[in-house]
Amino acid sequence: MKYSQKIETLKLSVNGDETGQLIALESNKAVVPFDIKRVYYIYDTTPGTVRGHHAHKKLKQLLVATSGSCTIVCDDGKEKREFILDWPNKALYVEGMIWRDMKNFSKGAVLMVLASEYYDENDYIRDYNVFLKELKNIKK
Ligand code: TYD
Repeated sequence: MKYSQKIETLKLSVNGDETGQLIALESNKAVVPFDIKRVYYIYDTTPGTVRGHHAHKKLKQLLVATSGSCTIVCDDGKEKREFILDWPNKALYVEGMIWRDMKNFSKGAVLMVLASEYYDENDYIRDYNVFLKELKNIKK
């Protein structure tokens, strides 16, 4: 099976004036390179909690902390990189076989995720050793 792997930080364009700020996200336009099939958000996280601990085989996601902040740890099997999402115009695009953890949720943080597929447990890899093993199958 051929897997993809991509991580990209993005600055979202803001429509703002003295009354406030507005950011719009649309499928297959500007920064969302997929049909948005699902939106979910993580909030009310327990202080100190670390979530995630999984990779996806195919899923494409755009992550935005619409309120507060959190850190996304992305591991492509070779190196780990940390991304701080701390403003609604900062987004992180993550595609495919990236092991991800989410941590350092601030009080009141809301992490919104746009996803390219409906929820499918079969797309998850929840065992790190299986993740590393599967990565060896990537054909370049
Ligand atoms: P999970 O993806 O493990 O959360 P996180 O990556 O934040 O640690 O999902 C947590 C639970 O929610 C799990 O029981 C699956 C369920 N879930 C859905 O039903 N639909 C969804 O779109 C997502 C992302 C999770």
